[in-house]
Amino acid sequence: MGRFYITTPIYYANDAPHVGSAYTTVNADALARWHRLLGEETKFITGTDEHGQKVADAALKSGSSPQAWVDQTSARFVEAWDALAISYDDFIRTTEPRHYLSVQKFLTAIYENGYIYKDVYQGLYCVSCEDYFTYESSDEGKCPIHGRALIEMEEENWFFRLSAFEDRLLEHYAQNPDFVTPETKRNEALSFVKSGLKDISITRSSITWGVPVPWDDQHVFYVWYDALINYLTAIGYGRDDDEVDKWWPASHHLIGKEIIRFHCVWWPAMCMAAGLEPPSHVHVHGWLLIGGQKLGKTMAASGAVKLSDISPVVLTDEYGVDPVRYYLLRETALGNDGEFSLEGIVQRYNTDLANNLGNLVARVTTVVGSKCAGVGPGSQADSPLRAEAETAIAESQAAWGRFAPQSALEATWRLIGATNAYLEQRAPWKMDAGDELDAVMGDALEAIRLVAILASPAMPSVCEEIWRRIGLEGRPTDEVLAVSAVWGRYHGGHGVLKGEPLFPRIKAEP
Ligand code: MSP
Repeated sequence: MGRFYITTPIYYANDAPHVGSAYTTVNADALARWHRLLGEETKFITGTDEHGQKVADAALKSGSSPQAWVDQTSARFVEAWDALAISYDDFIRTTEPRHYLSVQKFLTAIYENGYIYKDVYQGLYCVSCEDYFTYESSDEGKCPIHGRALIEMEEENWFFRLSAFEDRLLEHYAQNPDFVTPETKRNEALSFVKSGLKDISITRSSITWGVPVPWDDQHVFYVWYDALINYLTAIGYGRDDDEVDKWWPASHHLIGKEIIRFHCVWWPAMCMAAGLEPPSHVHVHGWLLIGGQKLGKTMAASGAVKLSDISPVVLTDEYGVDPVRYYLLRETALGNDGEFSLEGIVQRYNTDLANNLGNLVARVTTVVGSKCAGVGPGSQADSPLRAEAETAIAESQAAWGRFAPQSALEATWRLIGATNAYLEQRAPWKMDAGDELDAVMGDALEAIRLVAILASPAMPSVCEEIWRRIGLEGRPTDEVLAVSAVWGRYHGGHGVLKGEPLFPRIKAEP
């Protein structure tokens, strides 16, 4: 049996989650669900990044201790992920003892391998990015991402000899052409390596909110250096070697494009330095934008939009969990930037969900109710819909496999469209009861059954409801895809329920 290990970045616990954080998480969740459907042993992890200056500053501002602050904000991430039906297998908090243990073991290994030394750091720092800049890499002394003035820093620190890994990283890129996807992001990461690597400062003595350096009690680790190791904490690094061997290095890190350098340069080099294989895949996605600007906490501070008005919990309350998930997955190709808007959610909802999917289920269940005594007939082996269905299955499978949820859903919706078109053409609502009507309805029910399976990673609860309405037992995910997504498994004789509209149209403008 195959295995699939997928991670999201761990989110800064300086504030509540916003819909940008939900974007990475929903994509990772849908991919995890798809791989479970394939029958692969899947581990999906997410969590919160709780150290660093940004979090310490936020705690100070709120008048709490850092620990009390992160306990509270981390709980808000858990709440948001529950609202979005995120099926994580583990939630890592970097203040947990298990994470301290993994970090200290991992970094001690690097220290003992001779890749850590002491020096003086002098340069610029952005607290929002928790990242170092030179004057040249900054925007005339301002952060190129956040636009804020950078802080001058001078400190005696421990350094990681990143420069020693240039050749090995280049070799790793050459030998693993799909280490970083998409290609444009791979090129970006590679050009970082090619432009020459400088050693990096990995500890701080000016703050105390961090994982203590085991060999120097005056220092804590720099937040990024501790955070990346969460991917190993989750699989038992330093506690369970068998688990590490089981899951590593075959990992899929899903990340936003602003954290490429950490994941595609630092992290593989850190693994090499500790004597581990680098992670096998990093998938980079673009940003959700509002008015062309990255949607995020810094934007909220500028007053452009109230992020709390469009928080994951508010959105799911307003539109329902599955429509919000569908919108995030379907609207933008993973890898590209996309504009977020409430109008966009309503439009997707009314067209793809209410008019296409909802309408299909409503028409079929209505006709079966009125003309087939509420009992669904079985599908035909030589149905005109069969080829459409088989194409949708093959295309969705290929698309999920290349981390393209948008294309996978497009393929699934083509089957919905084809089924609706077939119904228009045959007009079963005008037919009399009999074999011809049964054939059309059985085929439509089979198409719906397949749609409920294929769309389940995106819309788990609606797909379960559709399954129930067409009279099937259990859930669309009970059997592996290779068994269930095969034309002709709707055998008929099932009680079909009409029920309330799955997606009542939204009339009001947001
Ligand atoms: N704590 C670090 C990650 C450490 S991983 C070892 C961090 N946290 S973050 O909270 O700032 O961002 C986490 C993820 O949320 C990133 O993948 C980031 O791209 C994503 N997003 C935050 N805002 C986003 C958008 N507006 N759009 C899409 N994704 C966004 O970086």
